[in-house]
Amino acid sequence: MMEPAEKPQDPPVSVTKTGPSVDTYQPQTITLAEFRSLTRNQQKKHMRHELWASQAEEYKSKQRQRNRECRKRRNQRLAQEAAETGITAHQRKKQRLQAQVRSGHCIVLDMDFEDKMEEKEIKSVCSQVMRCYGANRMASKRVDLHVTQLHGKIRERFETAMDQHVGWSEDHIVMRDAEYIDMYDKDKLVYFTADSPNVIDVLDPEKIYIIGGIVDKNRYPRLTLDKAEAQGIGHAQLPIGKYIKLSTRKVMTVNQIFEMIVRFVDHGSWKTAFQDVIPLRKFKEGDIEANDDENDDDDENNNEEEGDDDDAEKDQVVEPTQDIDGAGSDHK
Ligand SMILES: C[S@@+](CC[C@H](N)C(=O)[O-])C[C@H]1O[C@@H](n2cnc3c(N)ncnc32)[C@H](O)[C@@H]1O
Repeated sequence: MMEPAEKPQDPPVSVTKTGPSVDTYQPQTITLAEFRSLTRNQQKKHMRHELWASQAEEYKSKQRQRNRECRKRRNQRLAQEAAETGITAHQRKKQRLQAQVRSGHCIVLDMDFEDKMEEKEIKSVCSQVMRCYGANRMASKRVDLHVTQLHGKIRERFETAMDQHVGWSEDHIVMRDAEYIDMYDKDKLVYFTADSPNVIDVLDPEKIYIIGGIVDKNRYPRLTLDKAEAQGIGHAQLPIGKYIKLSTRKVMTVNQIFEMIVRFVDHGSWKTAFQDVIPLRKFKEGDIEANDDENDDDDENNNEEEGDDDDAEKDQVVEPTQDIDGAGSDHK
């Protein structure tokens, strides 16, 4: 599994639940009169901002410490396994890659959304592409992963801060500036989008599935559905609703969708794929109906979403309304 990135998150600042009340709050960076002149929402936002600033350093340093401990534990575990089996982690990785087979499925990451993202979101989407690459290397059946329309700031980032991508194996990712619409038959293209009314049950190896390479925190609903419709290509959403009861509209991140697909291709079970990837440990206590031991996977198995998924706590896992676990068996 991929290592958890050492990426300190924002501290969890609560204004309305456990934090101080707006009515008694003493602002630090503006006067009380200025604070009082703000609307209720602006006051809350300002409080959040000040509280965040006051807690950020300590929080981030705690997170870094936690990440260090996590890496240390992992290294100890790997060393112990190597001592017991005589096989080093490096050898095991090599064996796994040698045993990996091509699944015959093709996934495109459409990176043509640079103009819709802020700097931070561009960074985030690049990390998500990296996670997709990692997931494809870890799979026992890899997919053909094609990144298209890689240009502008996104390409620049891959060529500078993330220049390790130069050494990425083309078995696991191919990065191009070309447009998918010029690369494949139009009738083979299916855009994955949470807004599609079409819910897929199986993956057709004849089709080329596209994931929108964007982090937009739900600013652009229907963006990819509109794009697919304008291009006259197919579209579909994953059958997540058959397994997870949503209290709000659920939009996943690029790497979550990719990882779900890779796991489905590996094991032929949507249920397992969703349960493995959706970070259930983030759910509020009591909100989870699921009873799966599988959900206790260690942190390394659960990629943190990058901001699109703030509603995760409200979701509940339920049993599927119909059994489609066998649906992918022909893709094995
Ligand atoms: C953060 S979402 C982008 C949301 C964006 N507003 C849009 O219109 O697609 C990143 C990508 O993940 C894929 N995705 C997210 N949730 C999905 C779902 N439930 N089913 C299928 N694809 C999904 C889509 O390809 C989407 O473009």
